[in-house]
Amino acid sequence: MELARASPRGPARPRVLIVGAGLAGLGAAQRLLQGSRHFADVRVLEASGRAGGRIRSGKLRNKVVEMGAHWIHGPCRENPVFQLASKYGLLDDDALAEENQQVEVGGHPLGPSACYSSSGQLLSHDIVGSMGVLFFTLLEESREFLHVAKVPVPSVGEYLKEAIVQRVKEWPDDEETKRLKLAILNIFFKLECCVSGTHSLDLVALGPFGEYTMLPGLDCTFPNGYEGLTECLMASLPKGIVLFDKQVKTVNWESSYLEEAPTGRNFSVQVECEDGEKFLADHVIVTVPLGFLKEHQESFFYPPLPPQKMAAIRQLGFGTNNKIFLEFEQPFWKPDCQMLEVAWEDESPLAEPSTDLEATWFQKVAGFIVLHPAERYGHILCGFIAGKEAEFMETLTDAEVLSALTQVFRRATGNPQLGPPKNILRSKWHSEPHTKGSYSYVAIGSSGDDIDVLAQPLPEDTSDSKPPQVLFAGEATHRTFYSTTHGALLSGWREANRLIHIYNMSESPHSAL
Ligand SMILES: Cc1cc2nc3c(=O)[nH]c(=O)nc-3n(C[C@H](O)[C@H](O)[C@H](O)COP(=O)(O)OP(=O)(O)OC[C@H]3O[C@@H](n4cnc5c(N)ncnc54)[C@H](O)[C@@H]3O)c2cc1C
Ligand SMILES: *[C@@H]1O[C@H](CO)[C@@H](O)[C@H](O)[C@H]1NC(C)=O
Ligand SMILES: *[C@@H]1O[C@H](CO)[C@@H](O)[C@H](O)[C@H]1NC(C)=O
Repeated sequence: MELARASPRGPARPRVLIVGAGLAGLGAAQRLLQGSRHFADVRVLEASGRAGGRIRSGKLRNKVVEMGAHWIHGPCRENPVFQLASKYGLLDDDALAEENQQVEVGGHPLGPSACYSSSGQLLSHDIVGSMGVLFFTLLEESREFLHVAKVPVPSVGEYLKEAIVQRVKEWPDDEETKRLKLAILNIFFKLECCVSGTHSLDLVALGPFGEYTMLPGLDCTFPNGYEGLTECLMASLPKGIVLFDKQVKTVNWESSYLEEAPTGRNFSVQVECEDGEKFLADHVIVTVPLGFLKEHQESFFYPPLPPQKMAAIRQLGFGTNNKIFLEFEQPFWKPDCQMLEVAWEDESPLAEPSTDLEATWFQKVAGFIVLHPAERYGHILCGFIAGKEAEFMETLTDAEVLSALTQVFRRATGNPQLGPPKNILRSKWHSEPHTKGSYSYVAIGSSGDDIDVLAQPLPEDTSDSKPPQVLFAGEATHRTFYSTTHGALLSGWREANRLIHIYNMSESPHSAL
């Protein structure tokens, strides 16, 4: 049997614990076990009863729908999630087509959509389209402040609003048309809140906004559910290395814990679970969501995190984006329709939004995507809602949500007889105790540097060539791909590679053994 020699940088058979069995954690485990013969002692501790984390496919009766991640954003050669999904045979032919990978659209432009006014008019494509062009032109402009020494305003929202104020002055329209145009623009603000997972674009930092990177390729989905990906990853790992219902309570580091048997050696990390069980390790890779860290960082690490890291966790943004699936007996939309939207005529991005959540939460629903193809899904709409209204929605019952949205459809279509949906299924990401929201963004007062600070392993002091004890992965630790599945996977690989590299180095013939 070939055994690696112990070295000053680490033991012969390092023991690694991974906290969290989402894509970052499973990716790190697979990379460690398959990427290096040094790592055989790897375990994953998962708080919930399932793997996948924010990749979670649900069932609306017999139809598979995504409660969390839905698209592969930018499915191209550089996208590791696309690569892995292709390798596992989880994508359909359209998604695999070479042309699909070359489309440069920056997201998922939807085909024909139907936009209603809240007084029951179907709005013209011209007026909706022109507002879309204006919004996305300004949004592109707001990505151009990355290397600018001084930003004109702190947030993306303020930048967009100031630009719109200027544009409105040039509009030749009457007051009523101007109001309608602003109401339509507000839909795009809400959609972008969902994309960024934030309550308001006023919370999204302008300077770093351009750092988020979009890969080429027309966004694609998993015909049998995104969860197929994490299932394949699970199946590739040795049986029993992922322990479920193991919520980590504290990560003790910078210490020395003697394990009498079987190793008879000291470990610098001890991980303590809520159920009292303790695990010793040389290295722990923490992949818990930023939302969880925000809530528990004071008690989660002992000794506590360095102040700079604490500040990064506080300052980076983590908000809620929820989905509401509604299944209808009969569609009230045209067969090729991709999306339904409502322009609330009393709203404008330039006005203060209502704070009466109970009375107006449903106006925050940014739009309803029509799930295609109809042969697979029947007639299902997926509504998106972000921010405080999304969190309020989580406190309501299914019946309350269904009733409120039925009223919205009746009002928008001008058909008071429109039948209610026959089924509802929705996500409640803010209430998930192990997630506490949906995904991260760079909030005002923070920057990409905070993401790097969050990703930095501990101890910080590497002068005495101490190996890292606590490593950080997860969506929120990826400076350019945060909030995505590929960002999560790459972050897991990054930390696994960090460890592999250290042990590779220590067996090199030139290292001082
Ligand atoms: C509604 C929604 C829509 C999305 N849409 C897309 C999309 O279309 N495309 C895309 O690319 N991305 C999308 N995302 C983002 C994507 O899902 C995430 O970025 C990615 O799945 C995060 O992976 P992760 O491993 O970093 O975290 P997670 O998947 O959250 O994994 C972390 C794991 O840690 C566990 N955990 C937490 N606390 C503890 C503890 N104390 N002890 C032990 N375990 C713990 C959790 O239970 C969880 O399983 C979406 C997310 C949401 C919520
Ligand atoms: C473990 O650490 C303790 C305290 O640092 C030390 O006294 C002891 O010698 C170490 N034991 C082994 C087996 O390395
Ligand atoms: C570690 O070493 C192996 C074999 O020598 C090599 O294939 C791999 O790329 C190295 N990995 C890292 C992260 O250094």
